[in-house]
Amino acid sequence: MPEKIIGFSKLSREDKINWISSNFLNESSECKKILNSYLNNDNEIQSLHNSFSENSISNFYLPYSVSPNFLINNKNYCVPLVTEESSVVAALSNSSKFWFERGGFKSNIINNLKNGQIHFLFKGRKESLEKLISDNELDLIKSTDEITKKMRARGGGIKKIILIDKSSNLNHYFQLSVDFITVDSMGANFINSCLEKISKAFKEIILKSNLLQDSEKEIEIIMSILSNYTPNCMVEASVECNVEELGTIAGLSSREFSSKFKSAFDIAQIDINRAVTHNKGIMNGVDAVLISTGNDFRAVEAGIHAYASSDGDYKSLSQCSIIDNKFKISLKIPLSVGTVGGITDLHPMVKLSLQMLGNPNSSDLMKIICSVGLAQNFAAVKSLVSSGIQKGHMKMHLINLLIKNNASKIQIEKSKEYFKDKEINNQSVTKFLNLKD
Ligand code: MEV
Repeated sequence: MPEKIIGFSKLSREDKINWISSNFLNESSECKKILNSYLNNDNEIQSLHNSFSENSISNFYLPYSVSPNFLINNKNYCVPLVTEESSVVAALSNSSKFWFERGGFKSNIINNLKNGQIHFLFKGRKESLEKLISDNELDLIKSTDEITKKMRARGGGIKKIILIDKSSNLNHYFQLSVDFITVDSMGANFINSCLEKISKAFKEIILKSNLLQDSEKEIEIIMSILSNYTPNCMVEASVECNVEELGTIAGLSSREFSSKFKSAFDIAQIDINRAVTHNKGIMNGVDAVLISTGNDFRAVEAGIHAYASSDGDYKSLSQCSIIDNKFKISLKIPLSVGTVGGITDLHPMVKLSLQMLGNPNSSDLMKIICSVGLAQNFAAVKSLVSSGIQKGHMKMHLINLLIKNNASKIQIEKSKEYFKDKEINNQSVTKFLNLKD
């Protein structure tokens, strides 16, 4: 076992690589070669990337793809997507094209509040504390004036501070819950800075107050942090058409298809095994846009899955209805994203993605992401209830195999012809690869 290393972050890049190579990779020279081959030739770009994270020794590429023909609220978008999963972008592009011809996606913001909490322990009378907070809410908000000045000028800031009593779940546990509007920034740093200021002011107000007895003034602040659970920062998207407009899908009539499709959605509402996978299909699209636009996909993932189980059972995030011959699917998700701040102002590819989307504000980006999630969901369930998911996957698998075998463009084209009327599976692929030109 390698010895514990102290001061690793202070080593030069080369020394870091040598240390990894000798301790974990049997002195492999291949390691250095791979890491170097993924460095950017442009020193400026490379140092920018190095600055994003500690101990960075190279870059890690993922494909940067686009999906055109995304009609959202009557505007045509070309959506940038970062994903490594084969067939996600192809499926999404089919779906966006399909719905482009049927009126496109309609999306709207439900609300845009974010929140954070000061978590603390209090052993006194709740009613007195409640009065202290409502009496001093404005002063608590004012304590952040310096930090919130620019945000207030842009229409955001702190909207409300309330006391939440959690002491029946955990002895003496209370929260100051603070609502924020962060306009076009995701706002994590802003919210956390405000909470830390409020927590200081809160302690001072308590000490000065005569609403509490001395023994009640010994509150213990545990932590001050934003919440990634944002059920008041919601967006929804939907698409709809008459059942006949769905057309024949993989041999299924529009009526057969719509009925099977709705059953698949209904199953995801009541069965956790299916709901998680159904939602994963939605996140295939959501995450790909979050990454391409420099947003925190871990935060959004955490918030969305918590929302999916907000009534006690984990459920599908999307709905399907067929009413009066109208086939409709919709998706409603919490989405806290930003189009300014963070790496949106720094990463050239992120800037490019935002430009490609017409430099949206955060509300427009929420609408785009939600529509992409729904489009991806439609594409996945459409395949599942008709041709099956493996057909598309095997097509990508075949192309990957051909590329691995140094196939020429002509061979790849020939494969498309060969598999036109054949099922793509491991045997048929091997058979094709063994055929002479
Ligand atoms: C695969 O990445 C996503 C799917 O499993 C989603 C779904 O089952 O709905 C195809």
